[in-house]
Amino acid sequence: MVIIRSKKEIEKMRIASVRAMEILLYLKSFVREGIKTIELEMLCEKKLKAMHNTEPAFKGYYGYPYCLCISINDEVVHGMPGERVIKESDIVSIDFGTLYDGYYGDTAVTYAVGTISKSVEKLLTVTESSLFQGIEEAKEGNRLHDISYAVQACVEEAGFSVVRDFVGHGIGRRLHEEPQLPNYGEKGTGIRLKPGMVFAIEPMVNMGGSEVFVRENGWTAATKDGSLSAHFEHTVAITENGPEILSKP
Ligand code: MF3
Ligand code: CO
Ligand code: CO
Repeated sequence: MVIIRSKKEIEKMRIASVRAMEILLYLKSFVREGIKTIELEMLCEKKLKAMHNTEPAFKGYYGYPYCLCISINDEVVHGMPGERVIKESDIVSIDFGTLYDGYYGDTAVTYAVGTISKSVEKLLTVTESSLFQGIEEAKEGNRLHDISYAVQACVEEAGFSVVRDFVGHGIGRRLHEEPQLPNYGEKGTGIRLKPGMVFAIEPMVNMGGSEVFVRENGWTAATKDGSLSAHFEHTVAITENGPEILSKP
């Protein structure tokens, strides 16, 4: 069952989502050559403490031990903060969610460190554009996989591939709710979208093949072929006036 959220609930989700994105924007200037990923985690924790009533969404989720997921280069999602040092030309995906007054917000961005090649720049711009193409379809009367189709078309036109083993999702009083929202699919299929539905839309895009595997730590997913991967995510509500990005500061 897909839950319809009231205006009041959506306002709480907006607060959670905006705060999550504010932290990602705050971290941007620290994502530089020489910083350890655990230092980004510490900066996040400190900033979060200053935010009233706001808890990290991932820490403790199925035992995940950190606030942030930091996935570098060929890592797709669920990279863990640690002693790894960020280098010039890395691409760093940071995924962060918060819980505010019982409601979740979920966001992700991929930052480039220093200079990157034209093709890597294209990976980042296409992944972010595919997110916005998907968001445009998140409107009343459309079907769920219209979002999926739009993301996939944008990515594949550019010659990249969407990850299939991880998906977007409904979000609300839990971080992951029904329905699953794949980044591939057939137009005109899936549930009909109604005002009050809220989704985390999150294309994960590989430069090479779509296949991924999970590393020995049991969490971190990386591309099988070692190609680079990017990830952008917004929490989006369906409203009478079209899609509304709740994670827009
Ligand atoms: N933020 C991820 C998502 O976008 C989920 C992370 S769960 C964690 O759905 F436990 F790994 F943190
Ligand atoms: Co996320
Ligand atoms: Co998510």
